[in-house]
Amino acid sequence: MAIRKVGVVGCGLMGSGIAQTCAQNGYDTVVLEVNQPLLDKGITRIHGAWVMMAGKGKLTSGQVDENHTRLHGTLAMEDFADCDLVIEVAIENMEAKLKLFPALDHVVKPAGLLVSNTSSLNVTQMGAVTKRPDKVCGLHFFNPAPVMKLVEIVKTISTSDETITTVRQFATSLDKTPVLSKDTAGFIVNFLLIPYLLAAIRMVENGMATCEDIDTAMKLGCGYPMGPFTLLDYVGLDTTMWAAEAIYNEYKDPLYAPPPLLRRMVISGMYGKKSGKGFYHYQ
Ligand code: CAA
Repeated sequence: MAIRKVGVVGCGLMGSGIAQTCAQNGYDTVVLEVNQPLLDKGITRIHGAWVMMAGKGKLTSGQVDENHTRLHGTLAMEDFADCDLVIEVAIENMEAKLKLFPALDHVVKPAGLLVSNTSSLNVTQMGAVTKRPDKVCGLHFFNPAPVMKLVEIVKTISTSDETITTVRQFATSLDKTPVLSKDTAGFIVNFLLIPYLLAAIRMVENGMATCEDIDTAMKLGCGYPMGPFTLLDYVGLDTTMWAAEAIYNEYKDPLYAPPPLLRRMVISGMYGKKSGKGFYHYQ
């Protein structure tokens, strides 16, 4: 099946990055938000990225114009009716996703594929509340979505091989490198990344070293592009806690139990860069 038109549910940080990636790689892209201010904010972020890319000579002004014509914002899910593939990038909350998937199933044409950008929730369950579980899988992008080369494709016990083949081709057409994972909490990256991030938080809780020194150690000692605390702030402390909880709920392994400091920071609205305060302060 050829993918021509893509729907994206959610125009937050990840949703806008994914919509940007689809539109700039030639797909007609419709992005859905729950209200006009959030939609405007996301679309403005995408336009800003294209202006930045044009400023760096990565896009011509003609390509920026073409990208704009391929990108449409909407508040009506009905606009997904003729999409060949819809990427769900809504809040990481299973209850919300279990409402969203039947609604998408109702609206999107029967041949359309429904994929979730979830980082750790159960994709099988999302497919099970639709009448097309064979056409449901995970497609997990990494932040910043237009830049990071990896996507995880998550195959549930119901996903057909044909769906995986199509989604793999789609990912490659976005200039991404896909890896395949079973539908187990955390998939590949977060199964390894979350214990590392949580261990860094426990080191600070225990007074072993400062955030700054741990970040410097991992950047200069291991060649990581960001230290764990810069990355935690960048990904979002709330997002990290939800991912940790989802994996902990599946395995009950204390490695994935959110440390008390993380919980308290999230309760206090310290989400990281997006809220202006996390392990570091932002203007
Ligand atoms: N669109 C297009 N290009 C963009 C862009 C956008 N929206 N945002 C940034 N870029 C480009 C910049 O223009 C720049 O391009 P040039 O190198 O050609 O100038 C390039 O990306 C790098 O950006 P910066 O120069 O601003 O910054 P940097 O060199 O310090 O790199 C980074 C930033 C890519 C984020 C790097 O620090 C990095 O790789 N960090 C680690 C990120 C990471 O681990 N992400 C995964 C998080 S886990 C996750 O997302 C999954 C989950 O489930 C929690």
